[in-house]
Amino acid sequence: MSTSTQTGATSQLFADVIRERRSVRQYDKSVRLSHEQIKELLKEAAIAPSSSNVQPWRFLVIETEELKAKLLPIAYNQSQVTEAAAVIVVLGDTEGYKKADEIYGEAAKRGFMPEDTAKSFAERTISMYGSLPKEVLHKIIHIDGGLVSQQLMLVARAHGYDTVPMGGYDAAKLKEAFNISDQYIPIMLIALGKAAKPGHPTTRLPIDDITFFNEMPAN
Ligand SMILES: Cc1cc2nc3c(=O)[nH]c(=O)nc-3n(C[C@H](O)[C@H](O)[C@H](O)COP(=O)(O)O)c2cc1C
Repeated sequence: MSTSTQTGATSQLFADVIRERRSVRQYDKSVRLSHEQIKELLKEAAIAPSSSNVQPWRFLVIETEELKAKLLPIAYNQSQVTEAAAVIVVLGDTEGYKKADEIYGEAAKRGFMPEDTAKSFAERTISMYGSLPKEVLHKIIHIDGGLVSQQLMLVARAHGYDTVPMGGYDAAKLKEAFNISDQYIPIMLIALGKAAKPGHPTTRLPIDDITFFNEMPAN
């Protein structure tokens, strides 16, 4: 169990955090995180924005040796699955919008909005999301899931932990092996732990090549 980094002791500058986050693929197997530590990271990650604040993300934390071994072939034998302290399966809940009552109700209770406004927001949200075509709803859930995933990786780094996002897995097998119903869409896997070896440096496209002010260039 790691004692060097306590969850809650965020001290690094944000600029360091974003520069130092790297995809780490080799982990110190002796480092484990407690449920409390993982929940603290997820709580900060979940401050991420989401469409209508519906927060459709759900987290399945896989942390036992047995379950990580079960996940390994599903994630094409990527060794970080078993080496990392935990693998977070980021899921999108296609019925997440049904919690709009709870979400806006809490906002009203805390005085962030009048109760009748909260009630009409909730009603509108539930009716609007409930009538969206499936592809549109799924797209929204993927965008929200990506935002929370990125925030989780930065939060983890801020607390001295490392991550790697993984799209390399068989979603159908994952759902079957871990009893994930069709209500949920797997967004990505995120291995979480402490690096045994730093992630390798990567490059980015020059910002001038990918930024356009006011109009797009002619093709
Ligand atoms: C959606 C997504 C899926 C990814 N899937 C994998 C994966 O399955 N296995 C892996 O080792 N890295 C995976 N990566 C990590 C990328 O390779 C990595 O982010 C990229 O090379 C940039 O490196 P950096 O994260 O260290 O900056 C994935 C990243 C994203 C955003």
